[in-house]
Amino acid sequence: MKAVILAAGKATRLRPVTLTMPKALVPVANKTLIGYAIDVLKGAGLTDIGLVVNDLDSPIPQTLGKGESMGVNLEYIVQSEQLGLAHAVNLCRSFVGDEPFCVFLGDNIFQDKMQPLFHDFVASGTEASIALGEVSDPTRYGIAELDGNCIARVVEKPKEPKSNLAIAGVYLFRPSIFDAISRIKPSWRNELEITDAIQTLINDGANVCPYILKGWWIDAGKPDAIVLANQLVLEDLPYTPAPENKDQIIGRSEVSHRVLLGQNSQVIDSVIRGPVIIGDNTIIRDSYIGPYTSLGDNVLIEGSEIEASIVMSDCIIRDIPGRIDASLLADSAQVVAAQRMPATRRFILAENSYVQL
Ligand code: G1P
Repeated sequence: MKAVILAAGKATRLRPVTLTMPKALVPVANKTLIGYAIDVLKGAGLTDIGLVVNDLDSPIPQTLGKGESMGVNLEYIVQSEQLGLAHAVNLCRSFVGDEPFCVFLGDNIFQDKMQPLFHDFVASGTEASIALGEVSDPTRYGIAELDGNCIARVVEKPKEPKSNLAIAGVYLFRPSIFDAISRIKPSWRNELEITDAIQTLINDGANVCPYILKGWWIDAGKPDAIVLANQLVLEDLPYTPAPENKDQIIGRSEVSHRVLLGQNSQVIDSVIRGPVIIGDNTIIRDSYIGPYTSLGDNVLIEGSEIEASIVMSDCIIRDIPGRIDASLLADSAQVVAAQRMPATRRFILAENSYVQL
């Protein structure tokens, strides 16, 4: 079975981070968001993956290439206009051929590895199988209503939801979905909705089955959701003993278990309480790094406290009073105290930046 990952969205809700970095490459616990989708697919034995991007010159193909380093074969499919998920799936028709296939939304991240979903589908007589997860705000999602072991109805972002089971971004289809897509019309948001194509299958009398997710699931479309996903992934880190390497843990430092420290990174006169992940060549001096924090490569943290945050590569945080919490800093961002008088506040912010003092 082949798979397609949809990663062509403009990710406006994640600006300014996504002004320069596609959402698929945003790091969660120092691994790209799309890396988690690829891991689930690989774990289920799906290694031929079509990646739908909005431009072949985007950083996604440049970073992931043909997928060799991740043990998968990646092919790129371009969706230059964002006309909806069903439109994106339709572009994958020749890539998937006449076989059943998986559609995975590249910005969703799951605790569940979903192996039974994949293993049971090919032999089953069902036309489609859809991963569903419970949500507290069903008006924001595609929602499924069940009838016994089948899905009786799906509605995209219903105003009056009949259930709290959301379509969670992993779908198994057969080529019949392409005919269903050819019969749907754009929705109120002017998109061809995959939810409407699934409803078309159901109207045709096809069997569409639910797979109820186990554990947490995050649609990581907004900064808060990315920060939460980072916490949940770090929470699942297995036990590792406290690092003790004297070249890396220096002076009056205290580093707990479940702290993953990259090559050439140094902790100098600082306290780190895991779960924490730290990339390569990062320096932490006179600082406190609290639980659920991910620091990228070449980061400098000095005289500051931070927890439950994502700090991407090449960032500098220096002499900040108070504790930085639940924050998201994209590559090369700097948060520093004024070095000389006047000790004014000074901001150079991109569109949609957020500062809380
Ligand atoms: C899309 C789908 C929706 C699904 C959601 C999951 O919504 O249209 O059915 O529940 O992804 O993340 P969108 O992110 O386009 O609002």
